[in-house]
Amino acid sequence: MRVYDIISKKRHKKELTKEELLFAVNGFVNGEIPDYQMSALLMAIACNSLTNQETSDLTEIMAKSGDMYNLSELGEFTADKHSTGGVGDKTTLIVAPIVACAGLKVAKMSGRGLGFTGGTADKLEAIKGYKISLPYNEFINNVKKTGVSVITQSGNLCKADKLMYALRDVTATVDSIPLIVSSIMSKKIASGAKTIVLDVKKGSGAFCKNIKKATELSEKMVNIGKRHNRKIAAVITDMDKPLGKYIGNLLEVKEAITTLKNETGGELKEVSLVLSAEMISLSKNISYEKAYKQAKEILESNKAFYKFLEWMENQGADLNFLKNYNDFENALYKKEIKAQKNGFVTKINAEQVGNVSVMLGAGRKEKQDIIDNYAGIKIEKNVGDKVQPNDCLAVLYSNKKISKETEDYFYNAYDFGNKKPKIKPAVLKIIE
Ligand code: URA
Repeated sequence: MRVYDIISKKRHKKELTKEELLFAVNGFVNGEIPDYQMSALLMAIACNSLTNQETSDLTEIMAKSGDMYNLSELGEFTADKHSTGGVGDKTTLIVAPIVACAGLKVAKMSGRGLGFTGGTADKLEAIKGYKISLPYNEFINNVKKTGVSVITQSGNLCKADKLMYALRDVTATVDSIPLIVSSIMSKKIASGAKTIVLDVKKGSGAFCKNIKKATELSEKMVNIGKRHNRKIAAVITDMDKPLGKYIGNLLEVKEAITTLKNETGGELKEVSLVLSAEMISLSKNISYEKAYKQAKEILESNKAFYKFLEWMENQGADLNFLKNYNDFENALYKKEIKAQKNGFVTKINAEQVGNVSVMLGAGRKEKQDIIDNYAGIKIEKNVGDKVQPNDCLAVLYSNKKISKETEDYFYNAYDFGNKKPKIKPAVLKIIE
């Protein structure tokens, strides 16, 4: 077999066999196939797509390219969630303790921030003492003890995805649906949970800019999950504006805590409850309505908050540090961004807000950048709010001086109009 022929076949829109995909992926992982040939194959796939069979085969091959976790020792209710990436998305910190209270086992590996989107691993690592890497046995024992443990992705999980993603990132092939499907689903399948709930973000702060693409992506991922014997659903949620009020690692930890303590709510609470309900309903085979009621009761009775503290303590977090979550707004520099006109906020461009959070230090511009855990943004005026000149739209936080350019770029993320805009629901569609 020659990789040249495989590239040529896909370039001419023909279906690849499992053997051909295996040859290309394994050859690339083993270093026998060079970057330029894998890049050419990825481009051919991005241009000509993959059939469902090819996508399923590619997913399986990628999943098996590294460690495969078998969580059967945790029983039948293992559950995982995955977000396709957004701005201000701290739902894992809320959902994991809710579903653990309902008896599910969450042995979760989370990713780091990517581009303008945040990553759960970075948020957890911002918590003083929290051990984001654990040996496998300790990870599993934590789940046995408290029902939840979240660590960063092990270096050996889906080796193929790590290498292929790095090429996609620099060859304009990230937004190919079959490549996204195989990238996400190979990691979820290798991670071993029986139930998988996907949070597919749609809007200006997501790579699915419209509902058609989000629906197509969701249906394909659900299809692949089913082919691999998983209980799976996709929840399409709005990312046309950031989720919740805070963006930035410790600021988001603060908002997760206040939501768990029932001091704040809104769209963040609603998205967290819907994701929790889907995980409980699929795992326990009960109706969505019953599962939603259970998730709401767990959250509103503060059981999830105490489970969160148990999870944190078990994983080394300093509970005194967490108790003083109001100090998470103590960055050295703060800048209020003021409205310059009368009217309603009609839009907040989430991608632009995500970019500002990176400029402030909350994310990485280069792989080796060190994150400023205190950097970020508090949104004071959201879509639909009425404003007048000098009202505070948002506060920017950073431990380095905030430039005028950053302030102006942030201001431009806001659109204003004379009419109050229609507010879209936070949960747009559920695909089972
Ligand atoms: N997230 C992933 O893990 N992979 C993709 O391809 C896109 C988003």
